[in-house]
Amino acid sequence: MNLKDQYDRPLRDLRISVTDRCNFRCPYCMPAEIFGERYQFLPKPQLLTFEEIVRLTRIIVRLGAVKIRLTGGEPLLRQDIEDLVAMLAAIDGVDDLAMTTNAYLLPQKLDALKAAGLKRLTISLDTLDDEIFRRMNGGRSGVDKVLAGIEAAEVAGYTPLKINAVVQRGVNDHTLVDLARFFKERDHILRFIEYMDVGNKNGWKMDEVLPSAEIVERIHAELPLEPVAGNYFGEVARRYRYADGGGEIGLISSVTQPFCGSCTRMRLSPEGRIFTCLFATEGTDLRDPLRAGASDDDIEAIIRATWGARIDRYSEIRSSLTDEVRDRRKKVEMYHIGG
Ligand code: GTP
Ligand code: 5AD
Ligand code: SF4
Ligand code: SF4
Repeated sequence: MNLKDQYDRPLRDLRISVTDRCNFRCPYCMPAEIFGERYQFLPKPQLLTFEEIVRLTRIIVRLGAVKIRLTGGEPLLRQDIEDLVAMLAAIDGVDDLAMTTNAYLLPQKLDALKAAGLKRLTISLDTLDDEIFRRMNGGRSGVDKVLAGIEAAEVAGYTPLKINAVVQRGVNDHTLVDLARFFKERDHILRFIEYMDVGNKNGWKMDEVLPSAEIVERIHAELPLEPVAGNYFGEVARRYRYADGGGEIGLISSVTQPFCGSCTRMRLSPEGRIFTCLFATEGTDLRDPLRAGASDDDIEAIIRATWGARIDRYSEIRSSLTDEVRDRRKKVEMYHIGG
């Protein structure tokens, strides 16, 4: 029988965060003043091994997941990540195997990832303005590095790419039309993500959110758009195509138009906890039982119980929370579960 949560939502996607480390320090995710030289990331023995990740994935696939996405932190920082890709690609029942990356290390990793069976790539790039981009990644990279990664991905045949751009009012919102034009010309699918209150470390404020409706208006004024129906149930992005037939964009509007009703995503953290929401306050540990010798059936029972009890719909209730209540809620951090 198919596994469903308390609101009848099936488990369809598994997002696997393979490391809590990142070579960028985007202030909306890992502000440099908190994640400095001395910040203690997870020590290696605490990370799930590839064998452990694969074992859990097999069980989760048996419970209905068909889409897998590797995230981090920055997934390319995990040593030998291509080996994990190959192991996951070999699991029966996995229809889709994708990765979300900042692309900094992509040129040197692409051939191995492709050979291992990675199917799709999503690359994060918030603006083409070099100065603003540096501000948005904590001074760790220029735009040129990410464009080199994008070019390498094109050459390897990962087209069209999805490009993720977080939109922060007053930071990069005046550069969105340029970004849209650039990726329209190259036939990639740009997705604008509303700045979200993930975790407790980014100092999120509602007035820094530019609502998707306004983003669409601004793009439409220069590059006319028309709405398109979604690709599949549970799709995160709402789609628009360019009226001249030249490609499409997506809007991920967790703040102004939440999509919890169709949320089918489970997240696995680097140290082996499963989270049933991006804004969850706690996860369910699978690593201890795994290392204590639990059988696949034991692990399956824990996952079933966790998903079966799921009542998460944070984005739908966010607006009913006062700032104080929201700030007090201890949420898992973005770099820890990868969006
Ligand atoms: P496709 O498989 O190509 O449809 O990708 P996707 O849209 O799942 O890809 P991606 O991981 O790039 O998701 C884009 C961004 O949307 C993430 O990085 C998150 O910031 C956000 N996001 C994804 N899933 C959720 C979710 O369940 N809730 C919320 N609030 N945001 C999400
Ligand atoms: N709000 C919205 N998007 C975010 N991302 C990271 N932190 C946030 C946030 N607070 C984006 C990254 C990446 C994806 C995994 O999530 O830029 O594209
Ligand atoms: Fe790293 Fe991505 Fe977080 Fe930026 S948003 S710090 S690239 S994990
Ligand atoms: Fe899913 Fe939670 Fe995002 Fe809602 S807020 S879509 S339940 S991850």
